[in-house]
Amino acid sequence: MTMELWWERADLAYNEKNELIFANHNVHQYAKQLGTPLFLYSAERILANIKRLEQALHATGLKSRVFYALKANRYSPLLTFIKSSTGCGIDACAPAEVRRAMGCGFLASDISYTGTSVSNADLDFLTGLEGLKLNCDGLSMLRRIGKKSPGREIGIRINPAMGTGYGENELLRYSGEKPTKFGIYASELNQAIEIAAHYNLTITRIHFHTGCGYLNDQLEIWEEILKTCLKMIRKIPSVQAVNLGGGLGVPLTPKDAHLDLDQWSTVIQRVFNGTEYEINVEPGTFIAKDAGLLVLEANTVEKKSGKRFIGVNGGFNLTMEPVHYQLPAEPVLCHFQGNKEETFAPAHLSPATFAGNINEALDILYDDLPFPEISEGSLLALINAGAYTSSMHSNHCMRGEFNECLLLDSL
Ligand SMILES: Cc1ncc(COP(=O)(O)O)c(C=O)c1O
Repeated sequence: MTMELWWERADLAYNEKNELIFANHNVHQYAKQLGTPLFLYSAERILANIKRLEQALHATGLKSRVFYALKANRYSPLLTFIKSSTGCGIDACAPAEVRRAMGCGFLASDISYTGTSVSNADLDFLTGLEGLKLNCDGLSMLRRIGKKSPGREIGIRINPAMGTGYGENELLRYSGEKPTKFGIYASELNQAIEIAAHYNLTITRIHFHTGCGYLNDQLEIWEEILKTCLKMIRKIPSVQAVNLGGGLGVPLTPKDAHLDLDQWSTVIQRVFNGTEYEINVEPGTFIAKDAGLLVLEANTVEKKSGKRFIGVNGGFNLTMEPVHYQLPAEPVLCHFQGNKEETFAPAHLSPATFAGNINEALDILYDDLPFPEISEGSLLALINAGAYTSSMHSNHCMRGEFNECLLLDSL
């Protein structure tokens, strides 16, 4: 049996010719045809991720529905595929996202909207869509909806003042000791209930999302967060559905284990057992992140002051998470010469720093990664590039162009 690298799996692995195969496609050949920078997404992996999540929710015995967080990846073919192949709804956070989802076949009633700093113009559009699940992020939004559209059903986003995300990374927590901009705190909940009553709004949904990227080690704190939220939810007897947000992580380094979905669903069951709530979740990362690659060309390989730099034809403007959130996105070779065991033997690896093509000091995609020899012109694939990568791109230095493709034919 040949060695397996930590990120390899049935649909993402080297073949016997040392070529990277993703969703039945030879990544090197495909990228040569389409051109880099190139995002490749696997429809099959997206579907598998959604199914695993739906099964885990089903195991709780509670009524449930998954909403895909469109902000993670809004590529239209991907959205159309999700609409036509699954029962997923959409989590949107801006009117343009709602329009994009509806353009890909989702009905307003399939869409849950949770945004911040929502303007009156946004509200004119959102309240005009019958069936849209509109969640209020604060008292101001609640009051303005009440004035504009009294008597309707409404959701509210709550903030339990606790959060969890990827490991110890505080940048990924949306809620904690320090006040954040998200949701209504316990200290303002009574006021929210009064405003809703004043405008005859019925609060039927509670929403919270407290961080991104949590894995097994964070499930204990996640359970405490759910319990704290349940105490707040119980103050509102009209609630029918509880949206636990997204935040489920995927392994980003060899040290990370896959989130144990059995444990995850047991936590939900323990907390909500005996309630009649429909449970909703709205992940982006869990559904799309490990279903995408960003293929780049290594155009410059040289040492600077003794440090090995590998310069590539894309920068943090195409993959912002490593820089903004310090989340690793590991580059891997699209093909290599020689024997796999030898190529990846620790003795044959040496630290490499992957530098983008943006004139900013921060534009380092990975610092000091133990990496095999590589020559200029080789192609690299950044794994875990299916979420918050193309969707967050910018045109900084006028290098915002890329190609994108949804691989469907492995289904
Ligand atoms: C309100 C809300 N829901 C869902 C998500 C999706 O989070 P994730 O991709 O971590 O699952 C986010 C991400 O920022 C969010 O803000």
